[in-house]
Amino acid sequence: CHARHYYRFIVKEAPYTRLCSTKNILTVNGEFPGPTIRLYAGETITVDVYNKAKDNITIHWHGVKMPRYPWTDGPEYITQCPIQPGSKFTQKLILTTEEGTLWWHAHSEWSRATVYGAIIAYPKPGTSYPYPKPHAEVPIILGEWWKQDITAVYEGFLATGGDPNVSDAFTINGQPGDLYPCSKPDTIRLYVDHGKTYLLRMVNAALNDILFFGISGHQITVVGADGSYTKPLTRDFVVIGSGNTLDVLFHANQKPDKYYMAARAYSTAPLVPFDNTTTTAIVQYNGNYSSSSSPSLPYLPNYNDTNASFNFSASVRSLASEEYPVSVPLHVTTQIISTVSVNTFPCGFNETCLGTNGTRFSASMNNISFLLPSIDILQAYYGHLKGVFGGSFPKFPPFIFNFTAQYLPMILEIPKVGTEVYFLDYNSTVEFVLQGTNLVSGIDHPIHLHGYSFYVVGLGLGNFDPKKDPLQYNLIDPPFLNTVTVPKNGWAAIRFQANNPGVWFMHCHLERHLTWGMEMVFIVKDGHRPEDRLLPPPPDMPPC
Ligand code: C2O
Ligand code: CU
Repeated sequence: CHARHYYRFIVKEAPYTRLCSTKNILTVNGEFPGPTIRLYAGETITVDVYNKAKDNITIHWHGVKMPRYPWTDGPEYITQCPIQPGSKFTQKLILTTEEGTLWWHAHSEWSRATVYGAIIAYPKPGTSYPYPKPHAEVPIILGEWWKQDITAVYEGFLATGGDPNVSDAFTINGQPGDLYPCSKPDTIRLYVDHGKTYLLRMVNAALNDILFFGISGHQITVVGADGSYTKPLTRDFVVIGSGNTLDVLFHANQKPDKYYMAARAYSTAPLVPFDNTTTTAIVQYNGNYSSSSSPSLPYLPNYNDTNASFNFSASVRSLASEEYPVSVPLHVTTQIISTVSVNTFPCGFNETCLGTNGTRFSASMNNISFLLPSIDILQAYYGHLKGVFGGSFPKFPPFIFNFTAQYLPMILEIPKVGTEVYFLDYNSTVEFVLQGTNLVSGIDHPIHLHGYSFYVVGLGLGNFDPKKDPLQYNLIDPPFLNTVTVPKNGWAAIRFQANNPGVWFMHCHLERHLTWGMEMVFIVKDGHRPEDRLLPPPPDMPPC
């Protein structure tokens, strides 16, 4: 393959034209989507990130475990202060067992709208995929495009306290495709040979949406998710949460013709505006044949079809073979239950508030809306700085309640604001139950954890029942993910072993919810052995 050990990322503006208009966007090396990083499982590589743009930036390696080394993980004010214009930061990516598709993206305000790319972790030299070798591999990165400048979208969103402007298009590898104005000639085309199998390296990089994706006339087979192999799962369509990656096999076994691949939003909150457009790319068989004038669109479920999404997510299973065993923690030392909620704040004096009933939206976990500090938590922890964060993220919701009822008490509605972390002892085994609520109106939340993958041992609709639901857990072949979609008015139970010391961010990967405060931080303490402790910081940590 084309694995390399060193990359140079120059973050800079470049003009791009989409949907009949041109604007400057933030890019890496002028490319959009950005460069693909290719490496082997278990490798460590170096990326020099230069900020040649006007604003602060950070870059995050989504799904890369970074053992003992959160220093270059990337989330701003969590593990580092931003790289300022004119500065450079040398970042390491340290892989462990991740194999398959991962990705990287900016992790500073909403800059990840255009600053993203794929990471492909190949099996170690001398080993191979647990499925027949595909004829070719193609990154398929789903994104979201605004005609407006993304900083303006972000600032308008902050100013109004309401929902952000919805995007003007979804994109496949940066292109909206045939169905949008001025986009036809640049539609992405994938040329295929009849009878061959292609591996789609899929990323959902969209800022604010979970997506349905399919290819007309064909079924597709999921063989990996979030950099971990799965049992083959053959479907008409897939659901891909914001932040998730999928490895998907596509067998070109139909009548030679042109077909559409397409993606559109899965969005469940009745009052939340969303982009209801469809992005397409063309799958075109090579050879001589008379093709239909216009390809047909794949079947995709309705935008609010929670059952379709839930059934798909609940069907993904780890490969759990001899060669790729699972190690689900069976004995839990730390159980945490947390709500994930969209909330409202009363409107401040002199504010415009476009949230429901003239409020300002916020979001929370266990009723704490997370406030980013102005010095990063990792530095404060490592340097024993006081007053940057507190250690009292609650283990359980404020009170046990029917969280998915139609009407919820006011006390749940308005969260506290704070910067609270949860300390985990080294090697503790954690079960974390994420409970969606019906506040404001329930919606799915793709929750991402840095520094780890976790086993999704349970997924359910309604309220988590601590007596009954654990009896149904899948401890045999649960999927091993870094981002789990908590279904609307439902719950997800994840387990992991806290064997990676450091400061690790957990948050909703819908950018608007992240901005509103739907996040928390784990600090995993050092173990006793020197090899179980945090590594020292690199010399060039960006100053605060
Ligand atoms: Cu993909 Cu904290 O992010
Ligand atoms: Cu969310």
